[in-house]
Amino acid sequence: MANFPVTLGIDTSCDETSIALLKGEKEVLANVISSQIKIHQDFGGVVPELASRAHLENFDLVLKECLSKAGLSLDQIDQIAVTQSPGLIGCLLVGFNFAKALGLSQKIPVFGVHHLKAHLLSPQLTHPKEYPFLGLVVSGGHTALYWVESFEEIKMLGSTVDDAVGEAYDKVAKMLNLGYPGGPIVDRLAQQGDNNRFEFKEAFVKKGKYHFSFSGLKTAVRRIINQQTDSKEITNPQESQWVRDLCASFQKAAIETLFNKIKRALKELPAKAVLISGGVAMNSYLRALSAKLDGPDLKFQVAHPQYCTDNAAMIAYIGAAQAQKGQKLLDLDQNAYASAALW
Ligand code: KG4
Ligand code: ZN
Repeated sequence: MANFPVTLGIDTSCDETSIALLKGEKEVLANVISSQIKIHQDFGGVVPELASRAHLENFDLVLKECLSKAGLSLDQIDQIAVTQSPGLIGCLLVGFNFAKALGLSQKIPVFGVHHLKAHLLSPQLTHPKEYPFLGLVVSGGHTALYWVESFEEIKMLGSTVDDAVGEAYDKVAKMLNLGYPGGPIVDRLAQQGDNNRFEFKEAFVKKGKYHFSFSGLKTAVRRIINQQTDSKEITNPQESQWVRDLCASFQKAAIETLFNKIKRALKELPAKAVLISGGVAMNSYLRALSAKLDGPDLKFQVAHPQYCTDNAAMIAYIGAAQAQKGQKLLDLDQNAYASAALW
């Protein structure tokens, strides 16, 4: 094996077909992401059956583009890392089977990667490694807080008991007829709004102090929309100051809830850093708050925008570390799973 092995990363867990090439620990040679937003837009969400078919159709093109961007050929790849869980099972199976077949034909090892572990550690692609750290993964499917002592020692402190925070963004956008996916649109409008116009209470979550709940916030937004009697605010939402103020107030409540949990955990745990990742880590308000809190004794490391939403560079990063640590290879009879605990 070369001194700086080249790892091919593959992620087909949801609606992006992504393939990356990584040299050594974290030099990203190429990270190609083919988005399926156009396919799912009309449905207001990801349609699993269409997503798996699109992965199958896109895979070869994305692989060729990735190799050409990196200036490499298939026989220069030393190992493969592929998302094994969690995700939409039909989607996972496309990438997983391709990885096994490629490993077999190229006679190179294949490593199965946990998608959430990849999100959790993705800020390390562009920031120095700091342990122990508090990790927050916020996306359309997940909202969870982790205590991470090392690459192997990861403990989940809490997760959402209902909607993920990205899901709440997408649902609020849908209620306001703003389009899909809603997160970036709500974020853009929120930046032009007054975040004090509407007040929302933080949910009390019975299950525990590190768990999250966003369905009450979503319902409170719905109530305000239902009380709006001026129909032009709803029919032309992109031009409405009322919509901008509602987006800004919702955004403040959603993001501050995340930070309140982080602050609570920091009182009890000796973290050297806070790592924030997943699609919602793209959020402008979240990034501004993190920059404000970042300091010499406690680093706030938010994933680089390129590595926030689903991407194969983060999968390759974890797979390369697993290989370096001599962790288990995938056997040909192994399966992919829609859900699995983080290991
Ligand atoms: O990680 P991701 O690409 O997919 C998974 O859900 O796994 O995250 C997508 C989620 C969507 O819910 C999207 O609305 C949200 O991330 N998102 C944002 C922003 N950009 C994307 N949410 C808030 N503000 C943003 N700027
Ligand atoms: Zn993801």
